[in-house]
Amino acid sequence: MKNSFTIINNRTNESFEFDILDAARGPSVVDISTFYAKTKMFTYDPGFTSTASCISDITFIDGEKGELRYRGIEISELASNNSYLDVCYLLLNSKLPNKEESKDFDLELRHRSFLHEGLKNLFKAFPSNAHPMATLSSAASALSSFYYDHLVIHSEAEYQEMARRIIAKMPTIAAFAYRHSIGAPFIQPDIDKSFTENFLYMLRAYPGGKMHRNANGEDIIREIEIKALDTIFTLHADHEQNASTTTVRTVASTGAHPYVAISAGISALWGRAHGGANESVIAQLEMIGSVENVDKFIARAKDPEDEFRLMGFGHRVYKNFDPRAKALKELQDELKVELNLDSNLMEIANRIEQIALSDEYFISRKLYPNIDFYSGVILTALQIPKSMFTPVFVIGRTVGWITQWIEYKKETKTKISRPRQLYLGK
Ligand code: CMC
Repeated sequence: MKNSFTIINNRTNESFEFDILDAARGPSVVDISTFYAKTKMFTYDPGFTSTASCISDITFIDGEKGELRYRGIEISELASNNSYLDVCYLLLNSKLPNKEESKDFDLELRHRSFLHEGLKNLFKAFPSNAHPMATLSSAASALSSFYYDHLVIHSEAEYQEMARRIIAKMPTIAAFAYRHSIGAPFIQPDIDKSFTENFLYMLRAYPGGKMHRNANGEDIIREIEIKALDTIFTLHADHEQNASTTTVRTVASTGAHPYVAISAGISALWGRAHGGANESVIAQLEMIGSVENVDKFIARAKDPEDEFRLMGFGHRVYKNFDPRAKALKELQDELKVELNLDSNLMEIANRIEQIALSDEYFISRKLYPNIDFYSGVILTALQIPKSMFTPVFVIGRTVGWITQWIEYKKETKTKISRPRQLYLGK
């Protein structure tokens, strides 16, 4: 059997042969990098529905089976057995850390969580009603100016430093963006707190680091809240070549600073077809308002003349179920009583889910609830405001972006991303 793919131009009867490259998992690819040279034609694939843009060994998705793996390990296993920081370590090092490595990694990130004093001035330049995503994207970009001399990287240690720094600082940037948006003073990270607890602390604490206390005199950041948010970060950590990751790789291909590439990734994520959907889901549930109105909005979602879409439904790759959504649905059920999840929003969400999963329109188009459908209800219960839902996605995804950036930089044969077009103008 020949390991190639032949394409025939029926206009000219010429045939062209291209190599087939086999994947470790999932579909093989046809290497068309010589397509133009051989045929003098371009390929056309808007939205990249049939295009593999790179070779990677970080994350694998089987959209038909609803499978997601980081470095070969299933997401449900990682979400149940590992902390988010262990998952970060796994993505960056291709192996889970042992106890000592885990402790060192955690400690290093705590030390790196502080922001340069100069960067803090940037937040003040934004209007108080700025969306935190705008501030986040700018702050990530500004970070490149503080670490610009690290642009040329020579060693693995420097790659790791570049990665660890931005992973550690992102929760602080996000928390400061939020505090600025409500006119509250910044709360510095607390070195005695873990990654996830620290983020909740920086959002919630009063000046001087004081917290609300419960009736027993304990600070009100409950273990269960930390666990829930940590799981949310893990489920968002990487997702193969999605729009924001592709953006990061595209910027990387020009040789720009990694933090600028991540800033571009943050901007790409903000859109409601991508990470911005988590904020839109809750806004939509609030707009629907009550279970009685659900049918009306389902009808709108199905109407081809209406632009209305059910937020939190559908995915380019998952055509069976989104395993991240499944894990979050289980978490949501687990936390229902403990976290007193908003019953009205939950009721509306449950009704939408029930109808959509049995409706021909959604079944025939393979539209299932995605991760964003469930994350909002849990984030609301964690007292995280709506405007911070997508920044939470950013915090979780930063490790994925920087890991993909490192993988790109380590490739020996890279080319600037430069697609062509089908020109129909004058
Ligand atoms: N509600 C109603 N109809 C939908 C929806 C929806 N949420 N999503 C897709 N469709 C319909 C669409 O109208 C089209 O119908 P038809 O074939 O009759 O024209 C068909 O399903 C295929 O849609 P598409 O836009 O071609 O599919 P896509 O794979 O390009 O888009 C998507 C994927 C996620 C952008 C889309 O499903 C969507 O807009 N969903 C809502 C936003 C959302 O929840 N985004 C979060 C994605 S998960 C988080 C992440 O990883 O980014």
